[in-house]
Amino acid sequence: MNMPKSLISIKDFSKDEILHILNVAEEFETCREQNFLAGKVIACLFFEPSTRTRLSFESAVNRLGARVIGFPDNRNTSQAKGETLEDTMRIISNYVDMIVMRHPQAGAAAIAASVASVPVVNAGDGPNEHPTQTLLDLYSIRKTQGNLENLTVNMVGDLKYGRTVHSLIEALHYFHPHFIMTAPQELRMPREYLEFLEKKGVTFEETDRIEEHLNDCDILYMTRIQQERFPEPEEYAKVKDVYKLTASMLEGAKPNLKILHPLPRVGEIATDVDATPYAYYFQQAGNGMYVRMAIISYLLGYR
Ligand code: CP
Repeated sequence: MNMPKSLISIKDFSKDEILHILNVAEEFETCREQNFLAGKVIACLFFEPSTRTRLSFESAVNRLGARVIGFPDNRNTSQAKGETLEDTMRIISNYVDMIVMRHPQAGAAAIAASVASVPVVNAGDGPNEHPTQTLLDLYSIRKTQGNLENLTVNMVGDLKYGRTVHSLIEALHYFHPHFIMTAPQELRMPREYLEFLEKKGVTFEETDRIEEHLNDCDILYMTRIQQERFPEPEEYAKVKDVYKLTASMLEGAKPNLKILHPLPRVGEIATDVDATPYAYYFQQAGNGMYVRMAIISYLLGYR
């Protein structure tokens, strides 16, 4: 069987494909009423909570003229009776033209794609990857900085379990970045990603002090400590309040600095930051709809 092209990892897209998605998203931002997918049906299957990803995907499907089926949690599906993920995906792929899926298990989207007869989009698989978030992050970076080249990107927080930073590293490596990785010892970037950067010749430095690099970065990528991924509650309690960014900490920031966050935030960005010219996380989430319209169009062979 010829497998349809899916988006499971950001590595599934070349640099040219990434730039193509950003360009098409830009077009959709200028005109978001598109109806060229009338007659298509897309499944949005969320086995784990979501606000932004699910609703921006559903909105994207609607704006493209297609229809959505799916569920926001799997308690009322036959998985509750013990059906395997593979069988669930085999069945649903008979009904739809594309599957968008979030799942708590790393590798679940790849399993789905291995049995589905339609494209599968990974909307987050446990601590592993979140490639559509990465594409909207790149879109937001390019929109605010004018280009993607030679930027200093400071990633702060949970770099161990935070899947968005893993995908972001892999995508940004094409554009000659310098990475600062700010995390407590327990939540440092996994070795495999550091080795990836070393292999690609991308420079990076690690610190556990948030104050150290606030004035020398172009992008400050804040992340939530991922409570749901910790094996022991005591381990989470030790690090849950490790960083809190406030407006006064940004007094020496570069004028072009933008603060991104995949959201939700739970205390790592104080609300007084929202009124600074550096805050961009709410617009970033808004950009997600255009980027997801572009991803759907591309994988279905339209744009
Ligand atoms: N950024 C993100 O994935 O948000 P949700 O969990 O609300 O989808």
